[in-house]
Amino acid sequence: MQWQDRRLLDLFGIEHPILQAPMAGVTSPQMAIATSEAGALGSIAGAMLTVDGLRQEFQMVKQGTSRPFNVNFFVHKPPAVDAARDAAWRGRLAGYYGELGVAPDAKGPSRAAFDGAACELVLEFKPRVASFHFGLPDKSLMQRLKAAGILVIASATTVEEARWLEAEGADAVIAQGAEAGGHRGMFLTDDVTRQPGTMALVPQVVDAVTVPVIAAGGIGDGRGIAAALALGAAGAQIGTAFMLTPEAKTVPLHRAALKKASDGSTTLTNVFTGRPARGIVNRIVSELGPVSPDAPSFPLAAEATQPLRGPAEARGSTDFTPLWSGQAPTLAREMPAGELVKTMVRETEAALSRVRG
Ligand SMILES: Cc1cc2nc3c(=O)[nH]c(=O)nc-3n(C[C@H](O)[C@H](O)[C@H](O)COP(=O)(O)O)c2cc1C
Repeated sequence: MQWQDRRLLDLFGIEHPILQAPMAGVTSPQMAIATSEAGALGSIAGAMLTVDGLRQEFQMVKQGTSRPFNVNFFVHKPPAVDAARDAAWRGRLAGYYGELGVAPDAKGPSRAAFDGAACELVLEFKPRVASFHFGLPDKSLMQRLKAAGILVIASATTVEEARWLEAEGADAVIAQGAEAGGHRGMFLTDDVTRQPGTMALVPQVVDAVTVPVIAAGGIGDGRGIAAALALGAAGAQIGTAFMLTPEAKTVPLHRAALKKASDGSTTLTNVFTGRPARGIVNRIVSELGPVSPDAPSFPLAAEATQPLRGPAEARGSTDFTPLWSGQAPTLAREMPAGELVKTMVRETEAALSRVRG
């Protein structure tokens, strides 16, 4: 396929304007390798990895492909612990702890923010691209990445955020519409009710910045990619559609929930981590949320809710699993990631020629 808009292809050194979204807990080195080998941009998701885990993933991807890839991090500011709020939140969860035999003070893993140690590893392994969610790294870390020739990109959920990212030195902006699965990348606003959808956001971001724009949210096949390109995007970042690939670490219960889900199955909820994220509605979301004013700040809420997940899943229940999904779960396909990329490229070509007539 000959792509007319080569901005992203030339910038990243890839063949197709498709990014496999970094999905903490779901993506794997195998997924990144297969995607990059198929000519798109594969991604490592660093948000839930230890430094050792991150090193391992870097090593595996470097061994598996010599093509460009991306590594992604969260850049939230660690919040001050609010003991009273934490206690109140654990009070809301007390019935669930009792039901599942979980200790009331059990603590699940948190989410790491990008820091000096992670930056050292990035500089050691030198991926072509580093992407960020919830803003950009501190200026000093940002400068070190850029001085090493690593391209820096980040999610924007509004035009204002896109302008801010460009002004702070982002090489491309991911315009993440409200349809997107997982966490909203929002960082200059906390009002989820005013988050635009992909169709509305992308052309307005394209008009507002000069760097290439990557559309994300609800895009799951070639029709969506063609639409994103028609809106002026230079490429598309795709998450949910990769969640049923064999390379995905999506657990079986989550896979089954995705296969049953439809366009109306998801909502934006803060009950799992304290930040709004899109997932399939389950028991904890409907009983405590979808948005609870009691949830402690990100990522502290996760430390209290996560201990419920394992015991519930052991009983075959998804009551407490964050069932992350975008609004187009029916577009997710059970095929290897590399084949999915090639299929989406063929579909995009077909969609574009159908429109041309
Ligand atoms: C399971 C899941 C986990 C995600 N984790 C991350 C993450 O770690 N970092 C990130 O920048 N975005 C993350 N996202 C958001 C994606 O980058 C992207 O914006 C989204 O998947 C696009 O919408 P779609 O799922 O409808 O394709 C995640 C999305 C999903 C579905």
